[in-house]
Amino acid sequence: MRLLKLLLLIAFLCSSPAFAADEVEIDLGADARARGLSVFMQHCVACHGIKYYRGPENPSGIAPLMDAAASEQAFGVAAPDLSLMASARGKGIEGTEYIYRILTTYYTAPEGGIRNRAFAEETHTDGQIAMPPPIPMDDPELAQKSKDVSAFLFLVSEPAREERKSIGPWAVGFMALLTIVLYMLNSYTWREQKGKLKK
Ligand code: HEC
Repeated sequence: MRLLKLLLLIAFLCSSPAFAADEVEIDLGADARARGLSVFMQHCVACHGIKYYRGPENPSGIAPLMDAAASEQAFGVAAPDLSLMASARGKGIEGTEYIYRILTTYYTAPEGGIRNRAFAEETHTDGQIAMPPPIPMDDPELAQKSKDVSAFLFLVSEPAREERKSIGPWAVGFMALLTIVLYMLNSYTWREQKGKLKK
């Protein structure tokens, strides 16, 4: 009975609309990452740097084309470095989805002026943002480009992820092997004693 209740609870939690809301599928594969880097170089690097990015062709990070002072003068706020932005705006994949949403939810307020829905939710304001839409809202590839650049920024903010993932199966295999060896050692050690008891 208890097990049934637990199963029902798990089923309820998984089907809860809170988990289903605003879902975007962001592909984190190598191709998406490569496309994301080129979107970044095309649409973001004018204002944002990613100083902790380490790529084969950029071993010491990518600097913004506009320095912080010029950026502050132009927009009122200096464009932040994006190296850790995906982790800073939410746990796991949440921050990445936020970056996707910020790029895709620009709108013009009825009284005029550019607003952003994701930024409004994040900052609890009316959504006025100093960043002009980096990818034009009518670009037919807006959704794809936004997904790719957020996937890229996710991997920049979590450089150890690939390594962790590749270590996982080895660690599990090692534990399994260790269990077998210890089990055999245990039976070997006790074999003699158990034999004595039987007599
Ligand atoms: C024309 C300059 C400019 C370009 C190009 C630009 N940004 Fe920004 N960005 C800014 C400024 C300025 C801010 C600070 C906004 C604020 O705090 O109001 C910002 C803030 C951000 C933030 C942080 C929002 C937050 O929650 O604080 C993210 C994420 C971001 N930009 C992503 C991008 C991405 C991705 C691109 C490229 C697709 C891009 N930006 C292109 C100027 C720019």
